[in-house]
Amino acid sequence: MIETRDLTKTYGELYALNRLSLKLDKGDVYGFIGPNGAGKTTTMRILATLLNPTWGEATVCGYSIYNNAKEIRRVIGYMPDFFGVYDDMKVVEYLEFFAAAYRIKGPERKKKCDQVLDLVDLGYKRDALVTSLSRGMTQRLGLARVLLHEPQVLLLDEPASGLDPRARIEMRGLLKELRKMGKTILVSSHILPELADICNKIGIIERGKLLFDGDVTDAIRKVQQKVKFDVRVPPEQLTQAEQLIGKHACVDSVEQRAAEEFEELRKNTTDGCLRVTLKDGNTDGSFLAELLVQSGIRVKMLREEEIDLEDVFMGITKGITN
Ligand SMILES: Nc1ncnc2c1ncn2[C@@H]1O[C@H](COP(=O)(O)OP(=O)(O)OP(=O)(O)O)[C@@H](O)[C@H]1O
Ligand SMILES: [Mg+2]
Repeated sequence: MIETRDLTKTYGELYALNRLSLKLDKGDVYGFIGPNGAGKTTTMRILATLLNPTWGEATVCGYSIYNNAKEIRRVIGYMPDFFGVYDDMKVVEYLEFFAAAYRIKGPERKKKCDQVLDLVDLGYKRDALVTSLSRGMTQRLGLARVLLHEPQVLLLDEPASGLDPRARIEMRGLLKELRKMGKTILVSSHILPELADICNKIGIIERGKLLFDGDVTDAIRKVQQKVKFDVRVPPEQLTQAEQLIGKHACVDSVEQRAAEEFEELRKNTTDGCLRVTLKDGNTDGSFLAELLVQSGIRVKMLREEEIDLEDVFMGITKGITN
């Protein structure tokens, strides 16, 4: 549905995009993740036919950005990172204005406007002035606007930026809804955790280059070399447990951790906490439970470390920015 090959955009010496190649199949939700200045907006604007690349090829639904801009605009919904709303216009008038621009006529226009308002949960604001909407509502209205002509492909440039935590969750819910409708979505963000659970693919871009392209679990694997486990035992058995684990052939290292480092333990605990790192190639830590229980140690918790997606992102990008 979307394909770019060696897409490149230069501004003087600067490579805003450097031979970017990516591919989205029908129904893909592709998280396009990168720090400020990485080239996300540039990519979206090129795909939306609003900006010409310096070289390279890009197609949307098989249409070339060079020869079929008109067709592309018909099949995409592009939500820019910043967009204006007009004074003195009601929500419903705003949508009708754009519906008219898409040549949606008569009763169909009203029907479509009501439908998208419903979808983004703004029906109750249909008669409110657009300037009176909160940031989150404005974002949802912006999304409603690009859905009017039922595009198959959505290009959403940081739809959740500037939203409070609740509004972010609502925006994610909305994206899931669109995914269920079978839309192909390219959605950008600065932060990986925000998109991880709604996307089936992610691309990590930095300084115009795609550093990673694949699914989320592969990204994690790329960064996380060794598997780690957290173990909690009664404090009086901590040293014994540490020694036992340290001697096991599959264990690379074991260290004591302060209880505060365990998020769910902020509620104060006297438990002893250990972080166990397995040797390369070992992924199954169930032997730890057996080992400890056999020696009479009361295991209060055994859990594989959940990798922090923020770490994955930092690991892949290493903080280089344009
Ligand atoms: N018109 C322009 N003239 C010169 N440089 C530009 C222009 N537009 C973009 N750039 C540069 O191209 C690079 C990529 O910008 P782009 O807006 O695509 O990044 P982004 O990933 O969307 O960043 P952000 O997360 O801040 O939105 C940046 O270094 C930016 O300064
Ligand atoms: Mg941007």
